[in-house]
Amino acid sequence: MSNLMEIVKGRKSVRTFDGKQISDEHREMLQKYIKEINNPFDIPVEFVFLDAKEKGLSSPVLSGEQLYVAGKVAKKPYADVAFGYAFEKLVLYAWSLGIGTVWIGGTMKRELFEKAAELKEGEMMPCVSPLGYPAAKRSIKENMMRKGIGADARKAAQELFFENEWEQPLNIAKDMEEVLEMVRLAPSAVNKQPWRIVWKDGVYHFYEKKDKGYDKEQTGDLQKIDVGIALCHFVMGLEEQGKSPKVTISDPGIRVPEAVDYIASVNM
Ligand SMILES: Cc1cc2nc3c(=O)[nH]c(=O)nc-3n(C[C@H](O)[C@H](O)[C@H](O)COP(=O)(O)O)c2cc1C
Repeated sequence: MSNLMEIVKGRKSVRTFDGKQISDEHREMLQKYIKEINNPFDIPVEFVFLDAKEKGLSSPVLSGEQLYVAGKVAKKPYADVAFGYAFEKLVLYAWSLGIGTVWIGGTMKRELFEKAAELKEGEMMPCVSPLGYPAAKRSIKENMMRKGIGADARKAAQELFFENEWEQPLNIAKDMEEVLEMVRLAPSAVNKQPWRIVWKDGVYHFYEKKDKGYDKEQTGDLQKIDVGIALCHFVMGLEEQGKSPKVTISDPGIRVPEAVDYIASVNM
């Protein structure tokens, strides 16, 4: 993928499609890319393409979509974070080909999708996405939805990135500006942006600032998925700069408020 920052800045959720199938060439490229997708937690995430008409699949927020991709993962600790990381890789790659996506974790008839994706006991299918070419104009429904969620806004860096202690704003080093901007621009469920980072002793520690109602037994924690997405932007951004970040799970024991979960740390 060339110029990650351009892709991250240009990507927006697409809910209005032009009604055409994606080309065979694009489909093959996506399928090839999927085989290479990994995540730092080594939890396999499986992707299944589902034809909308053949399987009778739709979503009330979408129009003109012909194809979906569903993601499946075994239920275990960190499955949601791994899922967010892996699925976002596909989202960014699709956008680099001009293919629109939108994470769908809520606005779908879940039973139909789970059946079509042949979900098995012990697995979960937290989200799906349509795959298609954006229509020239967004539907009125989509514009209203974006407005309602405030989809174009993002929190300021000082609300997200801290130094040594919770809520002490990070002095952002020049060479980290771009990667942290990529984290800031990441998509999240209802645009809540629940990720927080505390930088301490040269390590970036990722946290989830939890809101109520996103953590479900059956489908995982959507906000942990969000943190996985943010982590994906961070790691891919660093890799693009030629760095070799290492993701570990080693809670540094920084004091955090209630309803904040430690997720993972990134060493340079
Ligand atoms: C985990 C996750 C679940 C989401 N679920 C839905 C959904 O069910 N329906 C929907 O229309 N958008 C959904 N979204 C899309 C977000 O609303 C969208 O990413 C956010 O508002 C920011 O807008 P943007 O993607 O255009 O930058 C979801 C996003 C994420 C990351």
